[in-house]
This record gives sequence, C-alpha cells and structure tokens, in this order.
Amino acid sequence: MNSKSAADWDKRYREHDMSLFGDAPNEYLRMVCARSDFAPQTVLLPADGDGRNGAWLARRGMSVTAFDLSTEAMRLAQARDKDTGVDVERFNADIMEWRPGAGRLWDAVAILYLQGPAELRQTAILKAIASLAPDGWLVLEGFARVAGATMGPKDAENRYAISELETWTKELKIIELMAGKLMLDEGDRHKGHADVVRLAARKR
Ligand SMILES: C[S@@+](CC[C@H](N)C(=O)[O-])C[C@H]1O[C@@H](n2cnc3c(N)ncnc32)[C@H](O)[C@@H]1O
Repeated sequence: MNSKSAADWDKRYREHDMSLFGDAPNEYLRMVCARSDFAPQTVLLPADGDGRNGAWLARRGMSVTAFDLSTEAMRLAQARDKDTGVDVERFNADIMEWRPGAGRLWDAVAILYLQGPAELRQTAILKAIASLAPDGWLVLEGFARVAGATMGPKDAENRYAISELETWTKELKIIELMAGKLMLDEGDRHKGHADVVRLAARKR
C-alpha cells in the first residue's frame, strides 16, 4: 500500500509555519451543518489533522472525538483547542488499526480529505459506518478521480471515484453524492480549482 507515513505527515506539519489547510473549517462541513435535518450531538473526525474542523464543531456545542496518524498534527490540534477554549477528545491513531471502544457510536462521522490507496479510503469509510448511531450521518469530501485534475494526489488510485463511494456506502441512505469542480481556499495546500467528491449519507 502506497500511502504517506506518519513520519511524512509529521514532517509536513512541522515544516509549515502556518496551518496546512487553514484555520477555517471545511466549507462542505459548514454546509452540511446548516441543513435543517442535521443536528448531531456527538461527532467523530478521523484524520482531523491540525484540528480546524474538530475545534469548530466543538465551538458549536458538539461533543467531538478526533484522531490523526500524525503526532505533530495532534500537538497542533491540541494547541488550537486550547486557544479556541474548547475540549476535544483527541488521540493519535492509524485508521487502519483503530477500533472504536465497545458500544461507542457517534451521531456523525466526517472524513475530510483523507487521500490514499483504496484500502485506506475504504477502511476509513467502513469503520466510519460501523461507528454511526442509527440515523447517524457520514460526511465526506475529498479529491475526485478525474482525468487532468490539477490539485490533490497525482496518482489517480489515491483519489475518490463515485462508483467506489456507491459500493462502499451501499448500506447507507444517500442524501447527496456528487463530483464536480469548485474553488478551494483552505490554507496554502488547498487553493484554486479542484475536482472533488462530496458525500452526505445516513445510517438506515
Ligand atoms: C489532507 S490532511 C486533512 C486534515 C483534516 N481532515 C483537514 O481537513 O484539515 C489528511 C490528514 O490525514 C491524516 N492521515 C493520513 N493517513 C491516515 C491514517 N492512516 N490514519 C489516520 N489519519 C491519517 C494525515 O496525518 C493528515 O493529517
């Protein structure tokens, strides 16, 4: 499997003197949060990076659990939580190894820009689904697999195809699933036109 290691991510976070993906939350997460039917009390964020999304959700009164492969990202996220004045349950874990505690379920799980080989992306989605309470929401945004994409992973295998998402989320009720182009403005890394997928789906 050819995904970036914890050391690669640590180096990226350590060498960047500002937040890699910006301080504002992801726009799609904001949009889903604005829906009239979206009102989770507990949210799980696998691969929360340096914590922009977790801190924002906690600020809105949700009880947030977040983890990331990178210890450096977690350190930055904890500093952000402290500055923001929020409490987020954070820990360091690889989604490939992680298991939720027995009987632990969340009202929503959001996976934002976790890119890598199919095995990594599928595992993240299946574990997210297994972690959802009844009616719980899976929210996902990531780079889409399209020809000539200008931003995101160079290797098409590390990007999301709609057909994969349809297969992996078969047991959910799809609320929206789309691929398209949008203008990203999230830190230095995600700036400009990008081909992305967006998914919001609910446990039946
Ligand atoms: C592009 S960043 C996105 C971070 C965050 N979701 C955001 O939107 O700001 C991808 C994150 O995935 C994390 N990651 C990569 N592989 C992972 C794995 N196997 N388990 C957990 N986190 C992982 C990286 O450490 C990195 O922080």
